[in-house]
Amino acid sequence: MREAMKLEKRNFIDLRDFSRAELEGLIEHGFRIKSGDDRQQYLRGKVLGLLFSVASTRTRISFQTGAYHLGGHAEHYNAADLQMSNHETLMDTAAVMGRFLDAIIVRMYDMNFYGRGRESIETIARYANVPVINALDDKDHPCQVMADILTLKEKFGRDFRKKKVVMTWGYSKRQKSLGVLHSMMSAGALLGMNLTFAYPEGYDLDPDYVAFARKALEESGGTLEFSNDLNAASEGADVIYVKNWKSLKLTREEEDQYKETIKNDWCVSSAHYERANPGALYMDCMPFIRGEQVTAEVADGPNSIIYDQAENRLHMQKAIMAALI
Ligand code: CP
Repeated sequence: MREAMKLEKRNFIDLRDFSRAELEGLIEHGFRIKSGDDRQQYLRGKVLGLLFSVASTRTRISFQTGAYHLGGHAEHYNAADLQMSNHETLMDTAAVMGRFLDAIIVRMYDMNFYGRGRESIETIARYANVPVINALDDKDHPCQVMADILTLKEKFGRDFRKKKVVMTWGYSKRQKSLGVLHSMMSAGALLGMNLTFAYPEGYDLDPDYVAFARKALEESGGTLEFSNDLNAASEGADVIYVKNWKSLKLTREEEDQYKETIKNDWCVSSAHYERANPGALYMDCMPFIRGEQVTAEVADGPNSIIYDQAENRLHMQKAIMAALI
């Protein structure tokens, strides 16, 4: 019987911490789990905690269901219901949770303070003494992106690396994390993918991630392009993946005003698919509001794979949990 992929790191927080071989091994294991070739109970007798201070549908349910399928149990804790709401420190919370649990899955960030979510998850990892999985902070969404890459490989086979994947900013009234973009940039660069990031001026990604990707691409042979024009970026695309993210440059008030002036240019529609390659796919990690970042026609159209993406969270996260716990 083939074993689960093992990772050198104890925690799964930032995809820059992993090698190409480790990411490929996880994806391959995700496929074996999805196909039913691997039904091992990797978490038998294990209890996991989901410490979330931010809302979630897909991440929460897929981790809880996945842990159950693997023979374990995962409980969800809303940070507002714990003594953290009475100013118990994160250090004490993490140290105590680590005495009860076999792993902690964390979603914690504050859109007003870029980087503070990452500091929180690193504090938890330091004091909990059990594996910690990032379920979205302000910098990365590694589980989402691993599931997205499994989805791309499922649709395109080994050729997925050659396909032009456009990651585009899309209008949303809400401000959202940059996690998906950074994780995709890191994973895409390590795996040698062909990525284009399209976004309005003022929405540049964290330069630390761009620098990592440029260096990783020297070895992997992938490509990385940037554009401030979604129409131009859509030319020859095989995938258009839309995601809103907050500006690292503008204040909230500035961004709220600015977004309203550009929103019509940043809603993915059939016009963009006329420029893309025939059969180009639509991806979206969800949630979203039809008519904001994408038209209903595209989101609900025949080339939309958003529900496959969501389902693959389950399979991919089982492989991640099996590797760590
Ligand atoms: N994509 C994603 O993480 O969805 P949730 O916020 O519902 O977990």
